[in-house]
Amino acid sequence: MINASYAHRFHEVSAAVRAGIAGGTYPYGQPVASAQRNTADLPTGDPVIMLTSNNYLGLSVDAEVLAAAQRVLQHYGLSTCGARLHNGTTVIHREFEQELARWLGFEDAVLFSSGFLANVAPLSALGGPGVVFIADQLDHQSIADGCAQSGAELRIFPHNDLVKLEYILRRSQDYACRLVVVDGVYSMDGDLAPLDEIAGLCERYDALLMVDDAHGLGVFGETGRGSCEHFGVTPDILMGTLSKSFGSSGGFIAANHEVCDYIRHAAHGYLFNASPPPVLIGGARAALQAIQTRPELRQRLWANTIAFRQGLIDEGFVIESGSAPIVPIPVGDDDLAMQMTRLMRERGVFLSVAAFPAVPRGKSRFRATVTAILEDRDLDRALSVIGTIAREKGII
Ligand SMILES: Cc1ncc(COP(=O)(O)O)c(C=O)c1O
Repeated sequence: MINASYAHRFHEVSAAVRAGIAGGTYPYGQPVASAQRNTADLPTGDPVIMLTSNNYLGLSVDAEVLAAAQRVLQHYGLSTCGARLHNGTTVIHREFEQELARWLGFEDAVLFSSGFLANVAPLSALGGPGVVFIADQLDHQSIADGCAQSGAELRIFPHNDLVKLEYILRRSQDYACRLVVVDGVYSMDGDLAPLDEIAGLCERYDALLMVDDAHGLGVFGETGRGSCEHFGVTPDILMGTLSKSFGSSGGFIAANHEVCDYIRHAAHGYLFNASPPPVLIGGARAALQAIQTRPELRQRLWANTIAFRQGLIDEGFVIESGSAPIVPIPVGDDDLAMQMTRLMRERGVFLSVAAFPAVPRGKSRFRATVTAILEDRDLDRALSVIGTIAREKGII
Protein backbone atom coordinates (compact mmCIF):
# COMPACT_ATOMS: atom_id res chain seq x y z
CA MET A 1 0.00 0.00 0.00
CA ILE A 2 1.52 3.35 -1.03
CA ASN A 3 1.70 5.97 1.72
CA ALA A 4 -0.75 8.89 1.15
CA SER A 5 1.89 11.64 0.85
CA TYR A 6 3.84 9.63 -1.71
CA ALA A 7 0.59 8.79 -3.52
CA HIS A 8 -0.16 12.52 -3.81
CA ARG A 9 3.32 13.21 -5.16
CA PHE A 10 3.09 10.45 -7.79
CA HIS A 11 -0.45 11.44 -8.77
CA GLU A 12 0.45 15.08 -9.54
CA VAL A 13 3.01 14.06 -12.16
CA SER A 14 1.20 11.02 -13.49
CA ALA A 15 -2.14 12.82 -13.97
CA ALA A 16 -0.49 15.63 -15.96
CA VAL A 17 1.40 13.14 -18.14
CA ARG A 18 -1.67 11.01 -18.82
CA ALA A 19 -3.76 14.09 -19.69
CA GLY A 20 -1.06 15.15 -22.16
CA ILE A 21 -0.92 11.69 -23.73
CA ALA A 22 -4.74 11.52 -23.98
CA GLY A 23 -4.83 15.00 -25.58
CA GLY A 24 -2.02 14.09 -27.99
CA THR A 25 0.25 16.89 -26.74
CA TYR A 26 2.76 15.00 -24.59
CA PRO A 27 6.02 15.42 -26.55
CA TYR A 28 8.60 13.46 -24.58
CA GLY A 29 10.13 10.04 -25.15
CA GLN A 30 8.56 9.51 -28.57
CA PRO A 31 10.03 6.24 -29.85
CA VAL A 32 11.81 5.85 -33.17
CA ALA A 33 12.07 2.49 -34.87
CA SER A 34 15.31 2.76 -36.85
CA ALA A 35 18.87 4.04 -36.73
CA GLN A 36 18.98 7.82 -36.53
CA ARG A 37 20.53 9.07 -39.73
CA ASN A 38 19.43 12.27 -41.52
CA THR A 39 16.01 10.70 -41.21
CA ALA A 40 14.59 8.04 -38.91
CA ASP A 41 11.45 5.92 -39.00
CA LEU A 42 8.61 6.35 -36.55
CA PRO A 43 6.97 3.13 -35.28
CA THR A 44 4.29 3.70 -37.98
CA GLY A 45 7.04 3.41 -40.61
CA ASP A 46 6.75 7.11 -41.53
CA PRO A 47 10.12 8.82 -41.96
CA VAL A 48 10.98 12.00 -40.06
CA ILE A 49 13.89 14.40 -40.56
CA MET A 50 16.09 14.25 -37.45
CA LEU A 51 16.57 17.71 -36.01
CA THR A 52 17.01 16.63 -32.43
CA SER A 53 20.04 14.40 -32.30
CA ASN A 54 23.42 15.34 -30.83
CA ASN A 55 25.07 13.06 -33.40
CA TYR A 56 26.79 16.22 -34.66
CA LEU A 57 29.23 14.58 -37.06
CA GLY A 58 27.02 11.62 -38.00
CA LEU A 59 29.51 9.19 -36.46
CA SER A 60 26.93 7.03 -34.64
CA VAL A 61 25.96 5.64 -38.07
CA ASP A 62 29.31 6.00 -39.84
CA ALA A 63 30.45 2.85 -41.67
CA GLU A 64 34.05 2.96 -40.32
CA VAL A 65 32.88 3.54 -36.75
CA LEU A 66 30.31 0.74 -36.91
CA ALA A 67 32.85 -1.68 -38.40
CA ALA A 68 35.32 -0.88 -35.59
CA ALA A 69 32.60 -1.32 -32.96
CA GLN A 70 31.59 -4.66 -34.47
CA ARG A 71 35.17 -5.95 -34.32
CA VAL A 72 35.42 -4.97 -30.66
CA LEU A 73 32.01 -6.50 -29.92
CA GLN A 74 33.13 -9.82 -31.39
CA HIS A 75 36.41 -9.72 -29.48
CA TYR A 76 35.28 -8.50 -26.05
CA GLY A 77 31.58 -9.46 -25.93
CA LEU A 78 28.78 -7.21 -24.81
CA SER A 79 29.90 -6.08 -21.36
CA THR A 80 32.74 -6.41 -18.86
CA CYS A 81 30.13 -7.05 -16.16
CA GLY A 82 32.44 -5.38 -13.68
CA ALA A 83 33.76 -2.11 -12.27
CA ARG A 84 37.00 -0.60 -13.52
CA LEU A 85 39.03 -1.50 -10.41
CA HIS A 86 38.14 -5.17 -10.73
CA ASN A 87 37.59 -6.87 -14.10
CA GLY A 88 36.13 -3.80 -15.88
CA THR A 89 39.32 -2.42 -17.39
CA THR A 90 40.19 -3.80 -20.81
CA VAL A 91 43.20 -2.90 -22.89
CA ILE A 92 41.05 -0.63 -25.02
CA HIS A 93 39.72 1.30 -22.02
CA ARG A 94 43.30 2.21 -21.07
CA GLU A 95 44.43 2.84 -24.64
CA PHE A 96 41.48 5.09 -25.32
CA GLU A 97 42.08 7.08 -22.12
CA GLN A 98 45.64 7.67 -23.27
CA GLU A 99 44.53 8.62 -26.80
CA LEU A 100 41.99 11.11 -25.45
CA ALA A 101 44.56 12.64 -23.09
CA ARG A 102 47.16 12.98 -25.87
CA TRP A 103 44.64 14.49 -28.27
CA LEU A 104 43.47 17.06 -25.73
CA GLY A 105 46.94 17.88 -24.36
CA PHE A 106 46.56 16.37 -20.87
CA GLU A 107 48.62 13.80 -18.98
CA ASP A 108 45.77 11.35 -18.43
CA ALA A 109 42.04 10.75 -18.78
CA VAL A 110 39.42 8.69 -16.91
CA LEU A 111 36.45 7.06 -18.62
CA PHE A 112 33.00 6.80 -17.03
CA SER A 113 29.93 4.99 -18.27
CA SER A 114 28.08 8.21 -19.13
CA GLY A 115 28.71 11.89 -19.58
CA PHE A 116 26.29 12.49 -16.73
CA LEU A 117 28.47 10.38 -14.44
CA ALA A 118 31.64 12.08 -15.73
CA ASN A 119 30.37 15.24 -14.00
CA VAL A 120 28.62 13.76 -10.97
CA ALA A 121 31.40 11.37 -9.93
CA PRO A 122 34.43 13.70 -10.07
CA LEU A 123 32.55 16.64 -8.55
CA SER A 124 31.26 14.55 -5.67
CA ALA A 125 34.83 13.39 -5.01
CA LEU A 126 36.26 16.91 -5.09
CA GLY A 127 34.00 18.42 -2.42
CA GLY A 128 33.98 18.15 1.35
CA PRO A 129 34.61 20.57 4.21
CA GLY A 130 36.65 23.66 3.36
CA VAL A 131 35.77 23.47 -0.35
CA VAL A 132 33.64 25.91 -2.31
CA PHE A 133 32.25 25.17 -5.78
CA ILE A 134 31.34 28.17 -7.92
CA ALA A 135 28.98 27.28 -10.77
CA ASP A 136 27.18 29.09 -13.59
CA GLN A 137 23.41 29.22 -13.11
CA LEU A 138 22.85 27.41 -16.44
CA ASP A 139 25.35 24.59 -15.90
CA HIS A 140 24.08 21.14 -16.90
CA GLN A 141 21.98 19.23 -14.36
CA SER A 142 24.76 16.66 -13.90
CA ILE A 143 26.99 19.45 -12.57
CA ALA A 144 24.24 20.60 -10.21
CA ASP A 145 23.78 17.03 -8.97
CA GLY A 146 27.54 16.51 -8.55
CA CYS A 147 27.80 19.76 -6.57
CA ALA A 148 24.83 18.74 -4.39
CA GLN A 149 26.42 15.37 -3.59
CA SER A 150 29.87 16.79 -2.91
CA GLY A 151 29.47 18.30 0.55
CA ALA A 152 31.14 21.49 -0.76
CA GLU A 153 29.66 24.94 -0.24
CA LEU A 154 27.96 26.02 -3.46
CA ARG A 155 27.87 29.54 -4.91
CA ILE A 156 25.97 30.18 -8.15
CA PHE A 157 26.66 33.15 -10.42
CA PRO A 158 24.18 34.49 -13.00
CA HIS A 159 24.77 33.08 -16.47
CA ASN A 160 28.12 34.26 -17.89
CA ASP A 161 28.21 37.20 -15.43
CA LEU A 162 31.94 37.62 -14.83
CA VAL A 163 31.55 40.57 -12.50
CA LYS A 164 29.55 38.35 -10.14
CA LEU A 165 31.98 35.48 -10.62
CA GLU A 166 34.88 37.70 -9.59
CA TYR A 167 32.90 39.05 -6.63
CA ILE A 168 32.26 35.47 -5.41
CA LEU A 169 35.90 34.48 -5.96
CA ARG A 170 37.09 37.50 -3.99
CA ARG A 171 34.74 36.66 -1.12
CA SER A 172 35.77 32.98 -1.10
CA GLN A 173 39.38 33.46 -0.05
CA ASP A 174 38.76 31.78 3.32
CA TYR A 175 38.06 28.40 1.72
CA ALA A 176 41.05 26.09 1.42
CA CYS A 177 39.93 24.93 -2.08
CA ARG A 178 37.94 26.79 -4.75
CA LEU A 179 36.65 25.18 -7.94
CA VAL A 180 34.84 27.00 -10.74
CA VAL A 181 32.76 24.74 -12.97
CA VAL A 182 31.13 25.85 -16.23
CA ASP A 183 29.81 24.41 -19.46
CA GLY A 184 31.94 25.24 -22.51
CA VAL A 185 28.81 25.31 -24.70
CA TYR A 186 25.45 25.67 -22.94
CA SER A 187 23.12 22.87 -23.91
CA MET A 188 19.82 24.75 -24.11
CA ASP A 189 20.83 27.84 -26.11
CA GLY A 190 24.15 26.78 -27.62
CA ASP A 191 25.97 29.88 -26.34
CA LEU A 192 29.59 29.69 -25.17
CA ALA A 193 31.20 30.51 -21.83
CA PRO A 194 33.91 33.22 -22.17
CA LEU A 195 36.53 30.67 -21.14
CA ASP A 196 39.54 32.92 -21.70
CA GLU A 197 38.26 35.44 -19.14
CA ILE A 198 37.03 32.74 -16.75
CA ALA A 199 40.43 31.01 -16.88
CA GLY A 200 42.10 34.37 -16.14
CA LEU A 201 39.90 34.88 -13.06
CA CYS A 202 40.60 31.34 -11.84
CA GLU A 203 44.31 31.94 -12.12
CA ARG A 204 44.08 35.29 -10.32
CA TYR A 205 42.09 33.82 -7.43
CA ASP A 206 43.85 30.45 -7.30
CA ALA A 207 40.77 28.41 -8.18
CA LEU A 208 40.63 25.13 -10.11
CA LEU A 209 38.72 25.37 -13.41
CA MET A 210 36.56 22.48 -14.65
CA VAL A 211 34.90 22.77 -18.07
CA ASP A 212 32.10 20.49 -19.29
CA ASP A 213 32.64 20.46 -23.05
CA ALA A 214 29.96 17.91 -23.92
CA HIS A 215 28.73 20.04 -26.85
CA GLY A 216 32.07 21.59 -27.80
CA LEU A 217 34.34 18.61 -28.49
CA GLY A 218 34.42 17.60 -32.14
CA VAL A 219 32.52 20.77 -33.03
CA PHE A 220 34.41 23.89 -31.94
CA GLY A 221 38.08 24.78 -32.34
CA GLU A 222 40.38 24.73 -35.35
CA THR A 223 40.94 20.98 -35.00
CA GLY A 224 37.74 20.02 -33.17
CA ARG A 225 39.27 20.03 -29.69
CA GLY A 226 36.32 22.04 -28.49
CA SER A 227 35.55 25.32 -26.81
CA CYS A 228 38.86 25.31 -24.89
CA GLU A 229 40.76 25.17 -28.18
CA HIS A 230 38.47 27.91 -29.51
CA PHE A 231 39.48 30.20 -26.61
CA GLY A 232 43.07 28.95 -26.31
CA VAL A 233 42.72 27.80 -22.68
CA THR A 234 43.61 24.62 -20.81
CA PRO A 235 41.37 24.02 -17.80
CA ASP A 236 42.53 21.93 -14.84
CA ILE A 237 39.80 19.38 -15.55
CA LEU A 238 38.11 18.94 -18.91
CA MET A 239 34.95 16.83 -19.01
CA GLY A 240 33.59 15.33 -22.23
CA THR A 241 30.87 12.96 -23.31
CA LEU A 242 31.02 10.24 -25.96
CA SER A 243 27.29 10.53 -26.72
CA LYS A 244 27.40 13.57 -28.96
CA SER A 245 30.04 14.18 -31.65
CA PHE A 246 31.67 10.81 -30.82
CA GLY A 247 28.39 9.08 -31.72
CA SER A 248 28.73 6.53 -28.90
CA SER A 249 27.97 6.61 -25.19
CA GLY A 250 30.10 7.14 -22.09
CA GLY A 251 32.02 10.09 -20.70
CA PHE A 252 35.46 11.12 -19.44
CA ILE A 253 37.54 13.69 -17.70
CA ALA A 254 41.04 14.69 -18.79
CA ALA A 255 43.47 16.20 -16.27
CA ASN A 256 46.97 15.71 -14.86
CA HIS A 257 48.14 12.32 -13.48
CA GLU A 258 47.52 13.22 -9.87
CA VAL A 259 43.97 14.46 -10.40
CA CYS A 260 43.17 11.32 -12.44
CA ASP A 261 44.74 9.00 -9.84
CA TYR A 262 42.70 10.73 -7.13
CA ILE A 263 39.44 10.49 -9.12
CA ARG A 264 40.05 6.78 -9.84
CA HIS A 265 40.26 6.14 -6.11
CA ALA A 266 37.72 8.61 -4.71
CA ALA A 267 34.88 8.91 -7.23
CA HIS A 268 32.08 6.50 -6.39
CA GLY A 269 30.69 6.64 -9.92
CA TYR A 270 34.00 5.15 -11.09
CA LEU A 271 34.61 2.74 -8.20
CA PHE A 272 31.14 1.28 -7.90
CA ASN A 273 29.86 1.28 -11.47
CA ALA A 274 30.30 -1.29 -14.26
CA SER A 275 32.72 0.02 -16.87
CA PRO A 276 31.46 1.48 -20.15
CA PRO A 277 30.95 -1.48 -22.54
CA PRO A 278 34.03 -2.14 -24.72
CA VAL A 279 31.89 -1.99 -27.88
CA LEU A 280 31.08 1.65 -27.13
CA ILE A 281 34.73 2.42 -26.45
CA GLY A 282 35.72 0.69 -29.71
CA GLY A 283 33.22 2.85 -31.61
CA ALA A 284 34.33 6.01 -29.81
CA ARG A 285 37.99 5.28 -30.63
CA ALA A 286 37.15 5.06 -34.31
CA ALA A 287 35.13 8.26 -33.94
CA LEU A 288 38.15 10.00 -32.42
CA GLN A 289 40.18 8.90 -35.46
CA ALA A 290 37.48 10.34 -37.72
CA ILE A 291 37.40 13.64 -35.80
CA GLN A 292 41.17 13.89 -36.23
CA THR A 293 41.44 12.83 -39.86
CA ARG A 294 38.17 13.85 -41.54
CA PRO A 295 37.81 17.65 -41.11
CA GLU A 296 35.23 17.61 -43.91
CA LEU A 297 32.69 16.29 -41.36
CA ARG A 298 33.09 19.41 -39.23
CA GLN A 299 33.04 21.62 -42.33
CA ARG A 300 29.74 20.05 -43.41
CA LEU A 301 28.32 20.52 -39.90
CA TRP A 302 29.15 24.22 -39.96
CA ALA A 303 27.80 24.69 -43.50
CA ASN A 304 24.52 23.03 -42.45
CA THR A 305 24.36 25.10 -39.27
CA ILE A 306 24.83 28.39 -41.13
CA ALA A 307 22.23 27.37 -43.75
CA PHE A 308 19.70 26.33 -41.10
CA ARG A 309 20.13 29.47 -39.01
CA GLN A 310 19.82 31.69 -42.09
CA GLY A 311 16.80 29.68 -43.30
CA LEU A 312 15.00 30.31 -40.00
CA ILE A 313 15.70 34.04 -40.25
CA ASP A 314 14.38 34.01 -43.85
CA GLU A 315 11.20 32.28 -42.59
CA GLY A 316 10.71 35.21 -40.18
CA PHE A 317 11.98 33.79 -36.88
CA VAL A 318 13.97 35.93 -34.50
CA ILE A 319 16.71 33.61 -33.24
CA GLU A 320 19.57 34.16 -30.82
CA SER A 321 22.72 35.38 -32.51
CA GLY A 322 24.87 32.39 -31.40
CA SER A 323 26.75 30.16 -33.80
CA ALA A 324 26.47 26.61 -32.41
CA PRO A 325 24.63 23.72 -34.08
CA ILE A 326 22.21 23.97 -31.13
CA VAL A 327 19.56 26.36 -32.43
CA PRO A 328 16.81 27.50 -30.04
CA ILE A 329 13.59 28.43 -31.89
CA PRO A 330 11.39 30.53 -29.57
CA VAL A 331 7.72 29.63 -29.10
CA GLY A 332 6.72 31.01 -25.67
CA ASP A 333 3.59 29.24 -24.47
CA ASP A 334 4.24 25.71 -23.12
CA ASP A 335 1.02 24.12 -24.43
CA LEU A 336 1.44 25.65 -27.87
CA ALA A 337 5.00 24.31 -28.06
CA MET A 338 3.72 20.80 -27.18
CA GLN A 339 0.98 20.97 -29.84
CA MET A 340 3.42 22.21 -32.47
CA THR A 341 5.88 19.41 -31.70
CA ARG A 342 3.18 16.84 -32.50
CA LEU A 343 2.21 18.65 -35.72
CA MET A 344 5.84 18.76 -36.83
CA ARG A 345 6.23 15.04 -36.24
CA GLU A 346 3.04 14.32 -38.17
CA ARG A 347 4.42 16.38 -41.07
CA GLY A 348 7.81 14.66 -41.01
CA VAL A 349 10.09 16.72 -38.74
CA PHE A 350 11.39 15.35 -35.42
CA LEU A 351 12.15 18.28 -33.11
CA SER A 352 12.46 18.38 -29.36
CA VAL A 353 10.89 20.95 -27.12
CA ALA A 354 12.42 22.59 -24.08
CA ALA A 355 9.66 23.65 -21.68
CA PHE A 356 9.37 24.48 -17.98
CA PRO A 357 11.22 23.46 -15.77
CA ALA A 358 14.14 23.04 -18.22
CA VAL A 359 13.60 26.71 -19.18
CA PRO A 360 11.61 29.46 -17.38
CA ARG A 361 7.80 29.21 -17.68
CA GLY A 362 6.46 30.89 -20.84
CA LYS A 363 9.88 30.66 -22.53
CA SER A 364 9.31 27.35 -24.30
CA ARG A 365 11.32 26.77 -27.38
CA PHE A 366 12.21 24.11 -29.86
CA ARG A 367 15.76 23.00 -29.43
CA ALA A 368 16.92 22.08 -32.91
CA THR A 369 20.28 20.39 -33.37
CA VAL A 370 21.96 20.39 -36.76
CA THR A 371 24.18 17.51 -37.86
CA ALA A 372 26.65 16.92 -40.67
CA ILE A 373 24.53 14.14 -42.17
CA LEU A 374 21.52 16.32 -42.96
CA GLU A 375 21.24 16.84 -46.70
CA ASP A 376 20.29 20.15 -48.35
CA ARG A 377 16.83 18.82 -49.19
CA ASP A 378 16.30 17.78 -45.52
CA LEU A 379 17.09 21.31 -44.38
CA ASP A 380 14.83 22.87 -47.05
CA ARG A 381 11.94 20.56 -46.19
CA ALA A 382 12.35 21.02 -42.43
CA LEU A 383 12.49 24.82 -42.74
CA SER A 384 9.36 24.83 -44.87
CA VAL A 385 7.43 22.63 -42.37
CA ILE A 386 8.62 24.65 -39.34
CA GLY A 387 7.80 27.96 -41.06
CA THR A 388 4.35 26.79 -42.21
CA ILE A 389 3.31 25.51 -38.78
CA ALA A 390 4.66 28.61 -37.05
CA ARG A 391 2.61 30.81 -39.42
CA GLU A 392 -0.50 28.67 -38.87
CA LYS A 393 -0.07 29.17 -35.11
CA GLY A 394 0.66 32.87 -35.45
CA ILE A 395 4.10 32.89 -33.84
CA ILE A 396 5.84 34.46 -36.86
C1 LIG B 1 26.36 19.94 -21.09
C2 LIG B 1 26.11 18.48 -20.85
N1 LIG B 1 26.85 17.83 -19.94
C3 LIG B 1 26.67 16.53 -19.68
C4 LIG B 1 25.71 15.80 -20.33
C5 LIG B 1 25.51 14.34 -20.00
O1 LIG B 1 26.02 13.57 -21.04
P1 LIG B 1 25.42 12.12 -21.40
O2 LIG B 1 24.02 12.37 -21.92
O3 LIG B 1 26.33 11.61 -22.43
O4 LIG B 1 25.38 11.32 -20.17
C6 LIG B 1 24.92 16.42 -21.29
C7 LIG B 1 23.88 15.65 -22.00
O5 LIG B 1 22.88 16.10 -22.43
C8 LIG B 1 25.11 17.80 -21.56
O6 LIG B 1 24.36 18.44 -22.44
